[in-house]
Amino acid sequence: MTHRVLVLPGDGIGPEVMAETVAVIELVNQKLGIEMSLEHALLGGAAIDAEGVPYPESTAQKAHQADAIILGAVGGPKWDGLDRAIRPEKGLLGIRSDLQLFGNLRPAILYPQLAGASSLKPDLVAGLDLLIVRELTGGIYFGQPRGFDTTDDGQRRGYNTYVYTESEIRRVTVLAFDLARKRGSRVCSVDKANVLEATMLWREVVNEVAKDYPDVELSHMYVDNAAMQLIRAPKQFDVMVTGNMFGDILSDAAAMLTGSIGMLPSASLDQAGRGMYEPCHGSAPDIAGQGIANPLATILSAAMMYRYSLNEPQAADAIERAVGVVLDQGYRTGDIAAAGEASVSTSTMGAAVRAALENVL
Ligand code: NAD
Ligand code: IPM
Ligand code: MN
Repeated sequence: MTHRVLVLPGDGIGPEVMAETVAVIELVNQKLGIEMSLEHALLGGAAIDAEGVPYPESTAQKAHQADAIILGAVGGPKWDGLDRAIRPEKGLLGIRSDLQLFGNLRPAILYPQLAGASSLKPDLVAGLDLLIVRELTGGIYFGQPRGFDTTDDGQRRGYNTYVYTESEIRRVTVLAFDLARKRGSRVCSVDKANVLEATMLWREVVNEVAKDYPDVELSHMYVDNAAMQLIRAPKQFDVMVTGNMFGDILSDAAAMLTGSIGMLPSASLDQAGRGMYEPCHGSAPDIAGQGIANPLATILSAAMMYRYSLNEPQAADAIERAVGVVLDQGYRTGDIAAAGEASVSTSTMGAAVRAALENVL
């Protein structure tokens, strides 16, 4: 069977890290005899420039036909002044919602070679392997009503709605518990149930789901404490499950435990396991065009694609092993290099991964 994969390079460093990732994918396919058709399409600022909208109909059509999608990143200062309906980020939210990619897996795993690059002391992060499961198509990102208006006394006002239905909570919680069973069998649900009604319901539904998983240990934590605990003692966590906005924030914090946001991949899954794969980082306008971005988060996202959507676990394992090899060999982009240590370019890092793959495959 030929896998149909859609490539969305996006903006900023997106196309830079994606070029290396596509080359990795092509090599893995060739070595393992995996048949794949790779199509390209536009999303975000690149789509606005070419077609006037961030998630064009042509991209949507290809996305619906694909078995999996791999995305770089979208956004940048060039488009920041646009009306909010056509900002690049709207395209990203649009494709997530259109494809109902409600389950966002963000694994924060410390490669032992990068213990020194972590913001925390090595003993606090050694062996860190935590999975954040973020709800991705609901919550305050999508709640209605939202918008701007004017108050009676003439002030400008902006407002959003934090809302969850029980089915939205249940499906992402089931995903988190199923994943926990395959690893440390512990789930920590993160909410703000001491203040926000939507998260009071969140806690109630999580408790209901947990009844079907007597073998999985459940705990609850308020998001402010969870942020603190992630920095204080991150190894206490196995799987964390949380809503859209809390998951966005906690996963960027978790990234720094692993050395850099340039190391953090993600998978965004629908009910059937179809998915979009993207690094957790953005388009990094401050370094775009310089060829120095770390491509490993996107390359590791490709590994997740082989594992979760394409059922090619040997390809996923090979990519993850190759990343370990290049880190052993001392290849470091600027974001993971120690102070004073030499760093390599995006393309050198990509080529090193491919050279390592030649050996592990
Ligand atoms: P960012 O993640 O783009 O950058 C934050 C910092 O991390 C920057 O200093 C950047 O240089 C660094 N960084 C990020 N990725 C890196 C990599 N691979 N290698 C080395 N360094 C890396 O976040 P931001 O600056 O807040 O956002 C920039 C733009 O990206 C905004 O338009 C934002 O909306 C967008 N964004 C998009 C996505 C996405 O497409 N999934 C995610 C986050 C932000
Ligand atoms: C992410 C990003 C996006 C989000 C933005 C760009 C819409 O920060 O993927 O983490 O908030 O989900
Ligand atoms: Mn984010």
